[in-house]
Amino acid sequence: MSSLSSSTSNYTQPKASVCAVIGGQWGDEGKGKLVDLIAKQHQIICRYNGGANAGHTIVDELGRKYATNLLPSGVLTPGCINLIGNGVVLEIPKLFSEIDNLLEKKKNDDDNVIHDLEKRILISDRTHLVFGFHKAIDGFQEGVLKESGSQIGTTKRGIGPTYTTKAARSGLRTGDLLSDFETFEKKYNKLLKTLKSQYPTCEELNSYDAQGELDSYKNIFIPRIKSMIIDTVTYLHKAIYVEGRDVLLEGANAVMLDLDFGTYPFVTSSNPCIGGACTGLGIPPRAISEVYGVIKAYCTRVGSGPFPTELKDETGDLIRKIGGEFGTTTGRPRSCGWLDVVAVKYGCMINGFNALCLTKLDVLDQLDEVKLGVGYRLNGVELDTVPYSADDLDKVEVIYETYPGWKTDISKVRKFEDLPQNAQTFVKRIQEKVGVPVKWIGVGAGREAVVVIQ
Ligand code: GDP
Ligand code: IMO
Ligand code: MG
Repeated sequence: MSSLSSSTSNYTQPKASVCAVIGGQWGDEGKGKLVDLIAKQHQIICRYNGGANAGHTIVDELGRKYATNLLPSGVLTPGCINLIGNGVVLEIPKLFSEIDNLLEKKKNDDDNVIHDLEKRILISDRTHLVFGFHKAIDGFQEGVLKESGSQIGTTKRGIGPTYTTKAARSGLRTGDLLSDFETFEKKYNKLLKTLKSQYPTCEELNSYDAQGELDSYKNIFIPRIKSMIIDTVTYLHKAIYVEGRDVLLEGANAVMLDLDFGTYPFVTSSNPCIGGACTGLGIPPRAISEVYGVIKAYCTRVGSGPFPTELKDETGDLIRKIGGEFGTTTGRPRSCGWLDVVAVKYGCMINGFNALCLTKLDVLDQLDEVKLGVGYRLNGVELDTVPYSADDLDKVEVIYETYPGWKTDISKVRKFEDLPQNAQTFVKRIQEKVGVPVKWIGVGAGREAVVVIQ
């Protein structure tokens, strides 16, 4: 037996902590802010799902605003490795414009502390590539759906079509960029030919400038990206099980947009929930120590699909105005409504959140009263969770609890006990109803505008 025990591999007990940050509503909860806030406690920040449909905002101590779409939100943390996992769909031209914009902005801000950014980006060799034609198909499909009034309202970043070619086993991956160019070109042309046959009436696809795209890959993108592409599975396992480097997993999109658990078909095409973190990086579930859910003190949604607690009145308009609820990626106005506790509890079941980050409490400062959606009723029958059907969710009557507002500016508050009593009651009620402790409360967009509950 002694020979058996001595042969035990290193891969049984993590030496590092692995924490995940996941959107608990319909996106834009403030994941970027939380990741940026806790990035310095980690050495590696990983994106595991989605693509440039995500828009994560970071506002530094001086109020300077930075937005990321593909890059993990550890980019502004000096020394931090930013890793893009196999579960992401990668639009390389967008990645480089994002890097260049960030470096340029930092330079103009006279604070170029991230000049080494490009050396701190690692990309899985298994990450699928988004080409211009995927975006063309995204727009085309939305146009077709629009004719019957059933468009999803996608970000048109080619997300759905790229995951479709991935599942159809015809997609191209970053690893393909490392092979000889002729092989890459052959695979590319084969994929484009297949798609043209599938979408014969998509004009943009049929007049597509394939040669132009191939040339820019050959001359610009491949030479620049080559050194970033590695086997991230082995890299992460070594980091977690051998070197003891702490890892933070940054979810994009959110629970209610999850392909399996969201308001299908009004969802994205990946799994933002915790299972997606394992498959999107190749790390075992047992390695993950903490899972944080990020939720706003109210709720927003962009694109189509059911939104039970939506406010189509002046309170909704006021929340949109104060909260700056316009998409980071598309600039579209976000629909606003009350916090939906039923949806948050559903997200807790799927993800096992062990703490919540409640953002944007300050946005409710001016309201006379605030509400929590605590239950659903469908055809007179109370439901204890989110129904599978988007049509049913669209029809539910929401049961609300109403609380007096605090009518006080809380943006300077940094301790829970310094919050107005009514704000404390509201937060405590959310915690009680959801059954998960609130660890952070956002009171402003800035990095420092947060109440941390020890
Ligand atoms: P993400 O996609 O989850 O990272 O969220 P977004 O960045 O798309 O949207 C969240 C927005 O709210 C951004 O503009 C943030 O700067 C901002 N924000 C985050 N937390 C707070 C907060 O506590 N208070 C206020 N007022 N704004 C916040
Ligand atoms: P972050 O990470 C808000 C929504 C789109 C659309 C649907 C499908 O910033 O929270 P897609 O382009 O993914 O095929 O669009 O999903 N959506 C988001 N909404 N925040 C996001 O990301 C989103 N990512 C996708 O608006 O309704
Ligand atoms: Mg966002």
